[in-house]
Amino acid sequence: MRRPTLVAPSLLAADFARLGEEVRAVTAAGADWLHLDIMDGHFVPNISFGPAVVKALRSHCPLPFDVHLMIAPADPYLAAFADAGADLITLHPEAGPHLHRSLQTIRALGRRAGVVLNPGTPASAVEPVLDLCDLILVMTVNPGFGGQSFLPSMLPKIAALRAMIDASGRDIRLEVDGGVTPETAAAVLEAGADVLVAGTAVFGAPDYAAAIAAIRGGGG
Ligand code: DX5
Ligand code: ZN
Repeated sequence: MRRPTLVAPSLLAADFARLGEEVRAVTAAGADWLHLDIMDGHFVPNISFGPAVVKALRSHCPLPFDVHLMIAPADPYLAAFADAGADLITLHPEAGPHLHRSLQTIRALGRRAGVVLNPGTPASAVEPVLDLCDLILVMTVNPGFGGQSFLPSMLPKIAALRAMIDASGRDIRLEVDGGVTPETAAAVLEAGADVLVAGTAVFGAPDYAAAIAAIRGGGG
């Protein structure tokens, strides 16, 4: 089942000195979700921001907050991100130790849950927990930094996950993150994704609305 394409600008590429303003600007420019990258300098080699920043932005933006946790362990912080206003919380299987339990916890907090697959992590890693997933996020760069080049070698994995989701009959969004631009979006959509994360391609563009429209169209 193909659903409307959603665009989720990643705040990592925004001007951190003007976060409230940046969030309001992408909202006005037609973003569907706001993607918030949480990095701990341990699971990934970079540090971004935590639940206090997510909470501070909540009143500036009516969009669903898509919180991508690149932290290990993640479990001790799930309630803090739910309280801060996360609508969707995704985590990596490698954050361990019990992926199924972490997804159960997110669901029990009343939030939508998802699994993120690194470039080196196979599609099969999500199969045993599909019943607890509202979202699967495929990384098309190694996590930790914005502005990296899209890895086209991930396209078959996106297509395999689209087939897995469709065969399951479940209502699961398929999101792609890393190096998404108007140029790379076309192949990502063709492979079956329906949510596109874009940091640099939105916040680095002179016109956020035009950038979001171009990414959504996948036209290049
Ligand atoms: C990378 C993050 C991405 C990042 C994407 O670890 O998960 O969300 O912000 O940035 P771009 O779109 O610039 O590749
Ligand atoms: Zn991300």
